[in-house]
Amino acid sequence: MRVEGQVVVVTGGAEGIGKALARRFRREGARTVVVADINEVGAEAVASQVGGAAYPCDVSREADIRRLVETVEGRFGPIALFCSNAGVAMGYDLAADNVAFAPNEAWDRSWAVNVMAHVFAARALVPRMRGRGGGYFLNTASAAGLLSQIGSAVYSATKHAAVGFAESLAIAHRSDGIKVSVLCPQGVDTPMLRGLAAGPQSADGVLSPDDVAECVIRGLADESFLILPHPQVADYMRKKTADYDRWIGGMAKLQRALRGAA
Ligand SMILES: NC(=O)c1ccc[n+]([C@@H]2O[C@H](COP(=O)([O-])OP(=O)(O)OC[C@H]3O[C@@H](n4cnc5c(N)ncnc54)[C@H](O)[C@@H]3O)[C@@H](O)[C@H]2O)c1
Repeated sequence: MRVEGQVVVVTGGAEGIGKALARRFRREGARTVVVADINEVGAEAVASQVGGAAYPCDVSREADIRRLVETVEGRFGPIALFCSNAGVAMGYDLAADNVAFAPNEAWDRSWAVNVMAHVFAARALVPRMRGRGGGYFLNTASAAGLLSQIGSAVYSATKHAAVGFAESLAIAHRSDGIKVSVLCPQGVDTPMLRGLAAGPQSADGVLSPDDVAECVIRGLADESFLILPHPQVADYMRKKTADYDRWIGGMAKLQRALRGAA
């Protein structure tokens, strides 16, 4: 797909990867870029840079997403591309003595933002897209959703669920003309990454959000399900599926080394 002339929504568009996507979509000639974020001031700032519209929205609340879709389509027309990009990284501790240490609040919040927001977007938009013969979802997960995030079971588990939901969406609605891409980077230089301790997410190099946005444009043009800004991730996936036990052993060794260095 090409975003030129289209209405595009980016959640989590006030910062980091979402901000870069909003800017890049504008450069590609999107007709309207809607920047939806819980951070209203940040969303306004990005929207004014891209000549788009800001929309205050907490993606963990279904009513917010439903209202976002209704308002945007009422004002600007059909949403061609909906990017569920907002995400949270919680429960990160390389030295935790129990991997299940994170409080339930961290699990609930991560589940709501990293997974349910994608479900809510599909629930609001699939009937509309089906009715007009198609549409496109770009869901930001993470390489942690394909491999693992050493140090955060919360992040790993919710990002795996996000990948699983994107697969279901792509499979179930292909015949409705609905396309799906899932974005799975490793380290990207954003406020989120800067808030975490150094870890394997940065081992293959930290990309800029603009690099990631460039990969997204290519991935959308090819309509690839999996968008991997760090190509090494495909090799790691092959190694994981070729010999799962060996892969677990290697990751456990890496965890011990990182814990020792922490
Ligand atoms: N930065 C990385 O290294 C990295 C790597 C892989 C995947 N990701 C994923 O990329 C996405 C963007 O991450 P980022 O690094 O740009 O993060 P970031 O923290 O820099 O920006 C996230 C944005 O999402 C917004 N947001 C958070 N919760 C929200 C909510 N409930 N409703 C609406 N907006 C909300 C924030 O206000 C912020 O503007 C996330 O899904 C993240 O998990 C990031």
